[in-house]
Amino acid sequence: MKVTVFNGSPAGPNSATQAIADAFLKGAASAGVNTQTIYLRDEKIGHCRGCFACWFKTPGRCVQHDDMAALLDLYNTSDIVCFGTPVYTWNMTAYLKNFVDRLTPLKAPKIQEAHGHFDLEDAEAKTQKFVVLANCGFPGEKNFDVLRAAMACCNPSLEVYRNCGRLLKSQDPAVQEKVAEWLTAVEIAGAEMAAGQTVSPAVHEALDAPLMSIPDYVKYIQMG
Ligand SMILES: Cc1cc2nc3c(=O)[nH]c(=O)nc-3n(C[C@H](O)[C@H](O)[C@H](O)COP(=O)(O)O)c2cc1C
Repeated sequence: MKVTVFNGSPAGPNSATQAIADAFLKGAASAGVNTQTIYLRDEKIGHCRGCFACWFKTPGRCVQHDDMAALLDLYNTSDIVCFGTPVYTWNMTAYLKNFVDRLTPLKAPKIQEAHGHFDLEDAEAKTQKFVVLANCGFPGEKNFDVLRAAMACCNPSLEVYRNCGRLLKSQDPAVQEKVAEWLTAVEIAGAEMAAGQTVSPAVHEALDAPLMSIPDYVKYIQMG
């Protein structure tokens, strides 16, 4: 079994996104699965050209010869795919959006409808589960509205939306303690999912807990 994080933060391994991903993968590894992180900023992935050759000329294959062919293999052979991103201008980063656009070869040019929502059929039935690991710089939940809507199309089994994300990289020991407690909940979620379980209600509750009050966070952010 394999769990793969596709991290769309420009900060790569030093990102707050990766702090969340590392905790999730640590939990997954404790359940005995293989884990891997791909830092999308380090991959050579051209923009989708919108030519639809991957549907009509060479089904399943893109005309571009870049790192995406290997990443599609990795995506297809992963049992849990995690999309990691900070919120950039309400949405996922351009690195992750570019990667998601380049997943087009996995779709078929057949429109399907579910509950009034139209989408494309998968060329082959998806076998993996999906997880969203995201953080944003502002307090409040509304910053994730656009990302949440975009991610709904992959029907995620777990969505971790961490507001006040700057705290994840804090050097303040009191903040670090609170963050470590929260990351433990992420770790347990990773272990539960890798064990084939659904994430328990207590863990969901811990994941939704605030790290700091909004006035304190606003003060904290404006210190630097
Ligand atoms: C170009 C840019 C756009 C951003 N847009 C938002 C935003 O719309 N909402 C928000 O809450 N934070 C926004 N942020 C803040 C980031 O989400 C925040 O700094 C985050 O912690 C970075 O995570 P990372 O370390 O994983 O890259 C933005 C940051 C940048 C650089």
